[in-house]
Amino acid sequence: MKTKRKDLLGIENLTVDEIELLLSTAESFKEVSAREIKKVPTLRGKTVINLFYEPSTRTRTSFEIAAKRMSADAVNISIASSSAVKGETLKDTARNLEAMKPDAIVIRHSSAGTPEMLSRYVGCSVINAGDGAHEHPSQALLDLLTVKERLGRIEGVRLAIVGDIAHSRVARSNIYGFTKLGASVTVAGPPTMMPPGIERLGCRAAANMTDAIKDADVIMMLRIQLERQDEAFFPSAREYSRLYGLDADKLRTAKKDVIILHPGPVNRGVEISPDVADGPYSLILDQVTNGVAVRMAIFYLLLGASRET
Ligand code: CP
Repeated sequence: MKTKRKDLLGIENLTVDEIELLLSTAESFKEVSAREIKKVPTLRGKTVINLFYEPSTRTRTSFEIAAKRMSADAVNISIASSSAVKGETLKDTARNLEAMKPDAIVIRHSSAGTPEMLSRYVGCSVINAGDGAHEHPSQALLDLLTVKERLGRIEGVRLAIVGDIAHSRVARSNIYGFTKLGASVTVAGPPTMMPPGIERLGCRAAANMTDAIKDADVIMMLRIQLERQDEAFFPSAREYSRLYGLDADKLRTAKKDVIILHPGPVNRGVEISPDVADGPYSLILDQVTNGVAVRMAIFYLLLGASRET
């Protein structure tokens, strides 16, 4: 087997070789989605369960499409119509799902550490699709793939991540992923959204957005969680946008050939202006396309590769 792991719980505990293997495998799977018949038999007979306790458009759909393109059976569990709303514990849910013999459970949950807890309850593979403010490993892998595809490398790349760093699992996974592969990462955001000691993860904390983006090769804008506005992490969306939103004026202070990423969903006019989100520097939809290939690679390396070595 090319990877000895049962689960993908985060980027923090992956080696450089494992990340590079995931990226090269994803590159090889991109071609499948360009075919007229977008299907390979690699995971025929395997069953994948998508267990999402939080909303998702991109991640859930692309895990499902990835499984189906590899001929696995994919089952989506909607928490609103599951027994979780009747008080069933995660452990009971896990044991009951395991009794149906899936090969992988893809889980998204609002609490950090839930995928790791689930992995102790079940023998099948567990894939973290986002746990609280902890990690979102498949997002970081698709971001790495998108940058590597455009710039030809990760080593030496300067990445600026701007926004709600404190609550962002996307920021955390990307800091781990990009620094492991030799990029330098700078983060910026309102003081209330910058966790003390963030530099311990290997990044630099900039004093403001202009400082963060001025030398960046890649700017990653984070979603502002408007549903949390009542917690007053910033005075108003307008104020936030003025100081930390990426618009044409701020973009003029960045490098001429900078590329722009955003994990979605986008709050247009808050963290990024519509003209920049849809403009020539934006790779937002390339990220989504690469999400399918990355998730195919994750399934392949956790569930399928052992039969081929
Ligand atoms: N990037 C991301 O996780 O998007 P979704 O919430 O739509 O899955």
